[in-house]
Amino acid sequence: MAAVLDQLDHVQTRTGGAQDTQNIYNYRVPKLFAYATVLWGVVGMFLGVWIAAQLAFPTLAEGISWLSFGRLRPLHTNAVIFAFGGNALLATSYYVVQRTCHARLFGGGLAEFTFWGYQAVIVLAAITLPMGLTSSHEYAELIWPIDLLLAVVWVAYAVVFFGTLYKRKIEHIYVANWFYGAFILTVALLHIVRSAAIPVSLTQAYPVYAGVQDAMVQWWYGHNAVGFFLTAGFLGMMYYFIPKQAERPVFSYRLSIVHFWALIFTYMWAGPHHLHYTALPDWTQSLGMVFSLILLAPSWGGMINGIMTMSGAWHKLRNDPILKFLIVSVSFYGMSTFEGPMMAIKTVNALSHYTDWTIGHVHSGALGWVGFISIGSLYYLIPRLVGRTSMFSTKAIELHFWIATIGIVLYIAAMWISGVMQGLMWRALNEDGSLTYSFVESVKASMPYYVIRMTGGVLYLSGMLVMAWNVVMTVRNPQPVNASIPAIAHHA
Ligand code: HEM
Ligand code: HEM
Repeated sequence: MAAVLDQLDHVQTRTGGAQDTQNIYNYRVPKLFAYATVLWGVVGMFLGVWIAAQLAFPTLAEGISWLSFGRLRPLHTNAVIFAFGGNALLATSYYVVQRTCHARLFGGGLAEFTFWGYQAVIVLAAITLPMGLTSSHEYAELIWPIDLLLAVVWVAYAVVFFGTLYKRKIEHIYVANWFYGAFILTVALLHIVRSAAIPVSLTQAYPVYAGVQDAMVQWWYGHNAVGFFLTAGFLGMMYYFIPKQAERPVFSYRLSIVHFWALIFTYMWAGPHHLHYTALPDWTQSLGMVFSLILLAPSWGGMINGIMTMSGAWHKLRNDPILKFLIVSVSFYGMSTFEGPMMAIKTVNALSHYTDWTIGHVHSGALGWVGFISIGSLYYLIPRLVGRTSMFSTKAIELHFWIATIGIVLYIAAMWISGVMQGLMWRALNEDGSLTYSFVESVKASMPYYVIRMTGGVLYLSGMLVMAWNVVMTVRNPQPVNASIPAIAHHA
């Protein structure tokens, strides 16, 4: 079983080269999604830097509502999660499912429809959110007509993906496809249940849930958006692109299957850790806490499987910046899935909740795990999709890696320090029981850390701009495309 990926994915050598491969498979749609990933990555991260700058310099957008923190924060989260992350997931899943099933994408023009439909959703989000048109549910802010369009596009995506699996020429379904498949099915379910609402006008609707039930549905949705949008699909990337780039088989294929079932079973129950000390019944909160602690095991099982795939190939890390991205991303995955269960413990959450510690946790997962695994996978993928041997500049990838890594460290270290400090200041009491610090004192104390976070964000964004330049140069500079190119013919 260990060499299963290599067995599944040898079609290009069989058929004689990159040009043939371009004809057998639909590379156009994954290519469009890959370009969109880079574009929306730059936009979403720019928005992140902008709102970070507003926290450091609060008067920046004074008086201009559509540039304000409140309007652009949801645009940032939508742009980085659904536009940057989502396009990366669609690009890679369409590529991986074709390569490992030896089948062209199912449904003819349907795949292209998913591309244009998905971009339409993103553009509509970029118009409506700054206008203040929102359902006000975090990570599900879009108004109901856009929700409907997204549901249609997502069903089309499921048809293309599962249709391709159905017509596969290989009996075995490679584990990456299990993760992608779970991500597609679960996101459909989450989106439909969370967005259920009764429209009253084109831009407004009443949610069908009320009070504490709405909160429970919200964090069932929100946490599984983390588990399935920000984790399961990216694990699909991990199981394909790390073995490919390292040229090593998955460390333990058996562990990858256990990892899959354990992870998807456990994630579903952990949502209430977002609602500790609220009106949610206490036993529900404790259940969420216990399942979050259990979640450490499958998460780390998967993380170890990803890291150990490097066995025998560690020396490659020295010269291969793409591998650096992939492996550091898995390390961040391990870190944030250790931190998460700790923060889910009620007594720890009493300190961390409402503070910047949460923001630090989010971005170690988002910048470190989601960002790096996507970036590493795209550096592998883009040359292959456009028929090149490699990216235009390996040095630029190395530069990207280092500025982005320094950026993450600045970002999350600043948030951890300010978060713990805020938590401690808020709970500090004088001997007579009065508060030691006023709230505004804690805001003032946080300001230097907001400047450091903004600097980290600028670095991370600069890395993304270097990537955009490298992609343009790769596409613009023609290299010979033929079967004798070892890098492609051997292991693309
Ligand atoms: C240049 C990079 C980035 C910068 C500077 C940045 C900055 C920010 C800022 C300032 C906030 C608001 C924090 C607050 O309300 O106190 C935020 C929230 C958030 N960002 Fe980013 N971000 C970046 C990249 C990303 C990426 C790549 C992702 C996901 C893949 C992401 C996901 C999120 C999420 C989920 C939140 C909401 C967190 C919460 O509500 O707890 N960010 N970001
Ligand atoms: C075992 C895995 C994980 C567990 C148990 C976990 C647990 C937690 C906990 C307890 C919180 C704080 C809730 C609060 O006080 O409001 C949180 C927030 C968050 N986590 Fe994680 N986490 C895990 C992994 C991840 C990963 C890998 C990512 C990102 C890729 C992530 C993204 C987020 C986001 C976006 C939030 C903020 C939600 C919000 O309030 O808007 N988590 N997580």
